[in-house]
Amino acid sequence: MSSFFTDDTSADAMSAGPAGEASVPDIPVGAGAVSGSTPSPSVNLVVIDPDDVARNRIAELLGSDVSSFPVIEDLVPYLNGEPMVIVLGPSAAVDGTLGSVERVLQAHRELGAILVAEELTTNLLQQALRSGVKDVLAHPADAMQLQEAVARVTSSLTSSPTAPVAGDELFEDDGEAGQVITVFSTKGGAGKSMIATNLGVTLAQRSDKPVCLVDADLQFGDIAVMLKLSPQHTIVDAVSSLDRLDASLLQNLLVTHESSGLLILPAPLEPAFADQIGATEMMQIVEVLRRFCSHVIVDTPAYFNDVVLGMIEISDDVLLVAGMDIPNIKNVKIGLQTLRLLNTPMEKLHLVLNRANSKVKLDVTEVERTLQVSADILIPSDIVVPQSVNRGVPVVQSSPRSGVAKSLEEMATMFAPALSGKGRGRKK
Ligand SMILES: Nc1ncnc2c1ncn2[C@@H]1O[C@H](COP(=O)(O)OP(=O)(O)OP(=O)(O)O)[C@@H](O)[C@H]1O
Ligand SMILES: [Mg+2]
Repeated sequence: MSSFFTDDTSADAMSAGPAGEASVPDIPVGAGAVSGSTPSPSVNLVVIDPDDVARNRIAELLGSDVSSFPVIEDLVPYLNGEPMVIVLGPSAAVDGTLGSVERVLQAHRELGAILVAEELTTNLLQQALRSGVKDVLAHPADAMQLQEAVARVTSSLTSSPTAPVAGDELFEDDGEAGQVITVFSTKGGAGKSMIATNLGVTLAQRSDKPVCLVDADLQFGDIAVMLKLSPQHTIVDAVSSLDRLDASLLQNLLVTHESSGLLILPAPLEPAFADQIGATEMMQIVEVLRRFCSHVIVDTPAYFNDVVLGMIEISDDVLLVAGMDIPNIKNVKIGLQTLRLLNTPMEKLHLVLNRANSKVKLDVTEVERTLQVSADILIPSDIVVPQSVNRGVPVVQSSPRSGVAKSLEEMATMFAPALSGKGRGRKK
């Protein structure tokens, strides 16, 4: 009797015999049948949990054509290099089990694992991600959540240009270090993330090499939301793998903004993770990114912390964003004084005045005189900006003819010349 069975097979069959006695079955196609989420190419879908009830419940949620095994080792003899999504039931979260999961996942890069955990603690999430699990859901997960997670993992295994390719460099290191540009402001809501995303998208469209946007607003980063992305990996994964982090591994963690080719390293999904990420880790990550990117753009929170100071230190350029109102100007003045005290070379600072319209009754020259810095770029205020943010499409793409898009394009020209009709050719 086989321990391999589909979800319509009884639990009795499971307990009737060891996996070793099984004849090699055809693992049915599962994830392709998943509904209610982004359609993904078909891959095999397997549920693993020693507990019959838990295993069958998860299999039911996933629909038909799902195979199941009590433990991950039982699956190994059936692996044939084809992509496969495995859903680990709550028992996998207990001590020791994640160790064997890690060993199997490391040896079989064609597998993408999702863990459904009884209790979603920070510690467990970290352990799971370190073991190579791509997504962790709280138990009981609903069918939609589970199917969406399967669809995400499926697409990471099959279609994404950043899908794991063991030991393979997706982008080459040509020995030329990329330019690091940090977007910073000492005032919340000044427009940093809007500027960082539009700069990233524009540079990605212009550059022949990859361009990466790092969301270093570790607690409340919203770059992924602004670009309508559902990240599978975040900075947390990069930090967990720091001891073996190289360009190849880091490339597997990046999310691609498909319409521009911009690569994104998203902020942690939970603010609690922010505390575990320090300046040294972030600097190390950016140093790896600049090996294969022409530009690394870093979005930041609206205050100085170790991470921000580290980012400013390693940046070639810092875009200091100020809104056109008195509190903004006051805070940016304090920010500038702090940067001077920290001996930040003034030549790498570029002042960007956002929402710089005549209507706000604050004169640009007056602002420049107060700050004792002249503005490099003026960006007008325009309703198309919040509209584009809400649509998840950067304004340079949604309203390319608007004044605000033109200013953002002009800003990008400070870092890469505007090219006509030349897209980004990804190096393989
Ligand atoms: N030039 C502009 N015209 C109109 N609206 C703008 C403009 N720039 C930014 N906004 C709006 O201001 C809001 C804040 O922008 P954004 O999120 O980029 O700021 P931030 O500095 O990143 O904020 P935080 O400090 O919270 O991270 C957004 O809703 C955006 O739509
Ligand atoms: Mg922001």
